Amino acid sequence: MSTEYLAAEQARTPDSGVLLDVRDLHVEFRTRDGVAKAVNGVNYSVAEGETLAVLGESGSGKSVTAQAIMGILDSPPGFVTKGEIVFQGRDLLKLGAEERRKVRGAKMAMIFQDALSSLNPVLTVGEQLGEMFTTHQGMSKKDSRAKAVELMDRVRIPAAAERVKQYPHQFSGGMRQRVMIAMAMALEPDLIIADEPTTALDVTVQAQVMDLLAELQRELNMGLILITHDLGVVADVADKIAVMYAGRIVETAPVHEIYKAPAHPYTKGLLQSIPRLDQKGQELYAIKGLPPNLLRIPPGCAFNPRCPQARDRCRTEVPPLYEVGPVRASACHYWKETLGE
Ligand SMILES: Nc1ncnc2c1ncn2[C@@H]1O[C@H](COP(=O)(O)OP(=O)(O)OP(=O)(O)O)[C@@H](O)[C@H]1O
Ligand code: SF4
Ligand SMILES: [Mg+2]
Repeated sequence: MSTEYLAAEQARTPDSGVLLDVRDLHVEFRTRDGVAKAVNGVNYSVAEGETLAVLGESGSGKSVTAQAIMGILDSPPGFVTKGEIVFQGRDLLKLGAEERRKVRGAKMAMIFQDALSSLNPVLTVGEQLGEMFTTHQGMSKKDSRAKAVELMDRVRIPAAAERVKQYPHQFSGGMRQRVMIAMAMALEPDLIIADEPTTALDVTVQAQVMDLLAELQRELNMGLILITHDLGVVADVADKIAVMYAGRIVETAPVHEIYKAPAHPYTKGLLQSIPRLDQKGQELYAIKGLPPNLLRIPPGCAFNPRCPQARDRCRTEVPPLYEVGPVRASACHYWKETLGE
């Protein structure tokens, strides 16, 4: 990233309102086959009450970045090798394990795609929700049960007083995801990271769960990082977008700007590959080729082997995040051309 851009970003975001600021984050996995460079200098920020959508193909480092923020990276083999994760003014990477654990749960929480494997199968839903209050707030068992019912009501699980006694497998996928949302909300955190929260659900249920999440987020004025493949969802709920490719941010922009005119060929390809209602029957565009092997990221711009606009410079010179607008950046040497300027 260019220092000019960083300076501009910092000038724009004085302490007030910034909840999370991820700076030049690097994560690698040291495996028997070699070092997989999963995250290679990610910069993004989230303000109070703001929704940041993180997009990118499978393997681009979306979840690993989230795990590093939450402090739940699978380590070893994963290591944060560089960068800062400034949350409410403190660099989380400098905190000890105990302090980190306190932040997790109370101040930030995560919602995963697969509720069934994230919930404990041998405890009732009420016990698991209640545990949030007994562990973090020293609440009595009885009071925590009442809180569990209240939370289930809040995420609109019908007959909460009855269902609180049931086990996760007795819930439908959509209802289970509501339980996950309830768990994440329990302590009213300031930041929620939702990693593909609706991917495993039917389309109609997806919309309901997403609406619920967006509504609760507004009510509680939480920051939300929404990791998703679904560009359709993003347009409705996000304030801004960060597009990731091979462990880097290749474009960040306010949602409406990116839809109007992407400033990076990869974003352009992603947008062209969304099915559109007004173009039924047309063949869907797909970005040619595959994302790079993270053990051997191509020199220059990592996207160059797949980019229709690539030229010689792209194969040798890594593009920094060029400032495209006041709150917009693109890691393409030819962003002006891409924007159509
Ligand atoms: N536990 C692990 N051990 C080794 N390598 C890992 C591990 N977890 C992730 N990686 C590496 O990090 C890369 C990025 O993974 P990540 O889960 O962040 O992708 P993602 O963008 O979330 O993709 P998806 O859309 O499929 O969820 C993977 O391709 C893999 O090379
Ligand atoms: S820098 Fe070159 S290869 Fe990379 S996205 Fe831009 S035009 Fe394509
Ligand atoms: Mg993922």
